[in-house]
Amino acid sequence: MKGLVLCGGKGTRLRPLTHTGAKQLIPVANRPILYYVLDNLKDAGIKEVGVIISPDTGEEIRDAVRAWDRKDGVSFRFILQETPSGLAHAVMVAGDFLGNDPFVMYLGDNLIGSGIADLVEKFQREGPDGMILLKEVENPSAFGVAELSRNGEVTRLVEKPQVPPSNLALVGVYIFSPAILQAVSKIKPSARGELEITDAIQWLIEKGARVMSQVLGRWWLDTGKKDDLLKANTIVLDDWAREEIAGEVDAASRVEGRVELAERARVAGSTVRGPTVIGEGCVVENSFIGPYTSLGEGVVVKDSVVEHCVVLAGSKIIGVDRLEDSLIGRNAQVISHSSHRSYRMSIGDDSVVEL
Ligand code: G1P
Repeated sequence: MKGLVLCGGKGTRLRPLTHTGAKQLIPVANRPILYYVLDNLKDAGIKEVGVIISPDTGEEIRDAVRAWDRKDGVSFRFILQETPSGLAHAVMVAGDFLGNDPFVMYLGDNLIGSGIADLVEKFQREGPDGMILLKEVENPSAFGVAELSRNGEVTRLVEKPQVPPSNLALVGVYIFSPAILQAVSKIKPSARGELEITDAIQWLIEKGARVMSQVLGRWWLDTGKKDDLLKANTIVLDDWAREEIAGEVDAASRVEGRVELAERARVAGSTVRGPTVIGEGCVVENSFIGPYTSLGEGVVVKDSVVEHCVVLAGSKIIGVDRLEDSLIGRNAQVISHSSHRSYRMSIGDDSVVEL
């Protein structure tokens, strides 16, 4: 079994953050979303992984994969998809790498609250041509949607239907036999001009192939927007944050609960309440860092209250009485010269907000 991780696409839903970076690399609890994807593939026993990259963000994806903290024992092939022509097109481009092996296809910006080892095992035991992961959602029209028979076999799939046949959305995790390679070569582009994997699976179903499904019991975050990303951060911190203090905490500070303070980070005259992660080289001075906050590498927080926020590397928050529910890009500065106000914002990389 091989893995195919898709890291192309434009990430329009997370603008402005994705103007300057790949959506798969946006950090959740200070690790790129892509690392959780790679973890899940490795934990399911997959040792050969193809990574679909685009001309825009290919280099940073390569660098990130090479820096993945669990890469021992897994080999990678980077495959360039010249144009964002759809998920089925990505499978076509990966044809040589995939050969005649079954594979897990995993969208590199999808975060799920469980592993995929069970799904892989079920596929190997039952030997269908396709296996899809589904999740009940409130807005099925925004996704690919499945219609199932009583025993859970997939009878029909439609991409972004106006009248959805069910509330079961396709989560971006699929397992295929090599039969999918023929299917992707048979379909035509959709209304949005892409070769849809949903249509390729539907083609298989129409040819009599067996496509099975599993409904995900735990959470799924298609990290589309600011609020999704904050929610993902909250859930991942809840599940994974540990109490681990490698940095420095002075005598005038209090650190409570599950707080990860990375090396060379410094907390002075402040209270930090977990679950929270504070990255390498951060400086927190005379501040309160509340639960469900992730501060990326080198972030500086002074004279501020920050709670339920994701702050990316290199940003500064100074004199802000209360910043909550906010997503701050890289190297941004939020500086207040007055106090006693509350602000909510979603600002892009390299922005400066002076209040
Ligand atoms: C893609 C698929 C869709 C699936 C979704 C999951 O949509 O086409 O079927 O439900 O990923 O994230 P896109 O993100 O390209 O709109």
